[in-house]
Amino acid sequence: MKSPQDLIVEYVAKLNKWSHAYWVNDNPLVSDATYDEVFHELKALESEHPELILPHSPTQRVGELPVSGFQKNTHPQPMLSLDNEFNDDDIASFVAKTLAALGDSKCELQYQFVCEPKLDGLAMSLVYLNGQLKTATTRGDGEVGEMVLHSIKTIKSIPLFIDNAPEFLEVRGEVFMPKRAFFEFNEKAVANGKKPLVNCRNAAAGGVRQLNPKITAERNLDFITYGVGKVSEPLAEDHLASLLVLREFGFKLSEDTIACNTTEEIVAHYHKLIEKRAKLDFDIDGMVIKLNSFKEQEKLGFITRVPRWATAAKFPAEEKDTILKGVKFQTARTGQVTPVADLETVFVGGVNVSSASLHNMDEIARLGLKIGDRVSVFRAGDVVPAVGAVLESIGTEEIKMVTHCPSCNSLVKKDLDSANYRCTGQNSCPEQVTGAIIHYASRDGRMNISSLGDKLIEKLHAVGKLNRLSDIYKLTKEDIMELDGYLEKSSQKVIDAINASKTTTLPKFLASLGIREVGRSASITMAKHFKSLDNILNASYEDFLALPDFGTVMATNAKEYFSSPDNIEVINEIIESGVNWPEIEESNLPQVFKDKTVVITGSFTAFSREEAKDKVMAAGGKASGSISAKTHYLLAGEKAGSKLSKAQDLQSKGKPIQIISEAEFLEMLG
Ligand code: IVH
Repeated sequence: MKSPQDLIVEYVAKLNKWSHAYWVNDNPLVSDATYDEVFHELKALESEHPELILPHSPTQRVGELPVSGFQKNTHPQPMLSLDNEFNDDDIASFVAKTLAALGDSKCELQYQFVCEPKLDGLAMSLVYLNGQLKTATTRGDGEVGEMVLHSIKTIKSIPLFIDNAPEFLEVRGEVFMPKRAFFEFNEKAVANGKKPLVNCRNAAAGGVRQLNPKITAERNLDFITYGVGKVSEPLAEDHLASLLVLREFGFKLSEDTIACNTTEEIVAHYHKLIEKRAKLDFDIDGMVIKLNSFKEQEKLGFITRVPRWATAAKFPAEEKDTILKGVKFQTARTGQVTPVADLETVFVGGVNVSSASLHNMDEIARLGLKIGDRVSVFRAGDVVPAVGAVLESIGTEEIKMVTHCPSCNSLVKKDLDSANYRCTGQNSCPEQVTGAIIHYASRDGRMNISSLGDKLIEKLHAVGKLNRLSDIYKLTKEDIMELDGYLEKSSQKVIDAINASKTTTLPKFLASLGIREVGRSASITMAKHFKSLDNILNASYEDFLALPDFGTVMATNAKEYFSSPDNIEVINEIIESGVNWPEIEESNLPQVFKDKTVVITGSFTAFSREEAKDKVMAAGGKASGSISAKTHYLLAGEKAGSKLSKAQDLQSKGKPIQIISEAEFLEMLG
């Protein structure tokens, strides 16, 4: 008879083999019942002999206890990001640039480039010591990530043990939630009255960052490897061969990984993947192109945080077709009444989409849209859903603008200067009133009353306690405690936040008023130029028009706003309640950006992007959103993406654009 130890070794080996066949090869060797039977026998043996439990036993995948927090791990080698290409021409110039950089030193490999899908999940680094999975670390800031081994072990396509592995092996790849798992999870969640997951990517990231591995396990996450990190001895001489070794080790690869020699082959694969994208069981958002030979990769090295030997060719936003079931109208904070498409639900760009803004009636006319049409839908900038075009004009019902506001039933009128329609209800329109208050209390250069959130504002408005901006300062703790779910402590917190916000700056106050088209930067301009609120209240239309960047629309809106007796009354009440700001002084920053255009990208440690903009303006410069030949400086922080590559590109074409880091920026400002 076999000893318990022999049996345990035998069962673990068998189960791991079957599990690999099922989860990685999609080719089950035994029935589920057989697997379960052996699994239970193993479990029984292990509970009798806990000292014999093997670390790579399948029972250990969810066997871990919840962790109390995430330990930080330094990556054996930094996890870099990739530069982006956006079309065939970009791809061709990447290939040409890379081959030119190699010059005569091109190697004799059969294949020069490897192309593989860019998986849209969560980057993961797995470290194996003598074949045993020891750490699993998220990307973090590229240098240091979070240890998530307890949740990663629940992923069945990740081997817990590798035979014949080098002493030290770092495997890199993407954790993702397969679309099928996502839909099944959500179906169950909805049936049980639970909140569904928003999209596959968040579901994967959220699943990995669970303290309790049982919750991770419910998401049925998966893992595909796209290469090695640090290794004690190389697996092969090139990327493709090392991927094949990783497959031998038990990992899943992307089926659509191919080797190419010419730009034409690479571009053809790019288009093939765009076509195939919707049919795959996981989200991809581009194709990664890598130089195959490790020697050549080493020769080219890196620039800042991206390799010169690889790039990501991003896909155009994914499009799907669906039916326009109807059009609803919505009133925004500004009173603008906008049409919103009511769509038959489609899964596009990683989320379920059932409505999309149509902006205004001109857009509907431009699209030639009728209710019942078959239309294409995409996520603009991969975020906001939008209708792209009418694919089949099968609808018959014309779309008409409503005559009355869907929120307050006041008359709706067309703007004189645009295609927009607006509710005339103003202070009697709940959408406009709560919208204005939400805007006033919001962050990012406005009054920033953080505890006074959207929901609370809506509740207080509904009970008649918040009808205009100045009512904020009349609120009492008791007003809030009368609402459901607000106890004394949380109510006091709101009042404290309101009081704390009273000390502010003139630009912040102006930006909070929500004057149409007059945002943060225009508010700074007004404050800098007029110096005091009194001067602003007395300014003429011409005075506003003379301000830098103010056109006729902004000047008209500002003049109209400050001429309304209602608005003046509200402003006076706000000031009487104690809102105050320091006198505007001339900027004491050196005017280092005088008449210069500065683009800001990425994130910073000492300030937010909005604060950086303020600093640029205070130092005499203009902050702009996009890189062009007119840009003088790019202030590039952490995770600077396409703007940085564009600036580098312009630089390489001899344009005098300067790229500055956070430290250099602060140094310039003294
Ligand atoms: S290679 C230096 N290959 O994309 C090479 N990355 O911007 C760096 N990603 O967060 C990575 N699919 O997790 C590579 N086939 C693939 C990829 C891939 C997705 C992610 C990666 C990282 C980001 C890089």
